[in-house]
Amino acid sequence: MSPKFVSPKLVSPNPVSPNSVVPQSISRRRFLKIGCLTGAAVGLTICGATTLAPDPPPVQLSSFAYGEATMNNRVLIAYATNAGSTAEVAATIGETLGARGLALDVKPIQDRPQLDDYQAVLIGSAIHRGHWLPEAIDFVKANQAALNHMPVALFCVHIQNTGSDETSRQRRVAYLNEVRLLLQPIDEGFFAGRFNRRGAMLLLPGWLARLVPNIDLRNWETIRAWATSVSPLLQLA
Ligand SMILES: Cc1cc2nc3c(=O)[nH]c(=O)nc-3n(C[C@H](O)[C@H](O)[C@H](O)COP(=O)(O)O)c2cc1C
Repeated sequence: MSPKFVSPKLVSPNPVSPNSVVPQSISRRRFLKIGCLTGAAVGLTICGATTLAPDPPPVQLSSFAYGEATMNNRVLIAYATNAGSTAEVAATIGETLGARGLALDVKPIQDRPQLDDYQAVLIGSAIHRGHWLPEAIDFVKANQAALNHMPVALFCVHIQNTGSDETSRQRRVAYLNEVRLLLQPIDEGFFAGRFNRRGAMLLLPGWLARLVPNIDLRNWETIRAWATSVSPLLQLA
């Protein structure tokens, strides 16, 4: 027996049960109105939540020491930061080297650390508009003679050009071009950083900066691995 097809036109509508939901047609105008109102509500909620979110905490310029205070074979980790992420990177490098037995000091460059007591120096800075922060460049210029008689490792904390492709690598390596004219580093580290409202305030109008979320790309394992790899170069000095 061949299957029996029933023309849709001939199918009578299902009887409506008391529990079934009957779809109601709405006018095009009402549909647009509801859509617009919903979109506006969602937008305002997102903007409001971001705007009302608390400001990032104040920047902590950490300054600490590892090892005997009297040792004269100390290492200095000097850093320059605007929004604090480079300070935390410097602290992690310090903790890693300290755990490997190095005597060291971690200090912000704005404290103008003296190099007399150090056998090696690590200098790091946030990247702004393709360069180290001005105080980091000034620190190198002011101490250029001393720095050229000791091992110096450099590191950058940045948010762009963090890829593993050749273009990305070349662009981040260029961040240190002007510093390499002043000294010959034993090693260079490039670390993905953090961009938040505090940094955005330097680039955007205040109301727009308030909408910027916290983007933290720092990879602590990568940072610790670099510190570990540079450690013997500093100790052999
Ligand atoms: C004004 C400004 C300019 C920046 N320019 C660059 C840049 O040219 N290249 C880059 O990779 N990152 C750039 N960044 C991102 C910072 O390098 C990144 O957010 C870094 O982690 C900030 O470090 P800090 O928290 O120690 O200040 C810029 C950030 C700001 C606020």
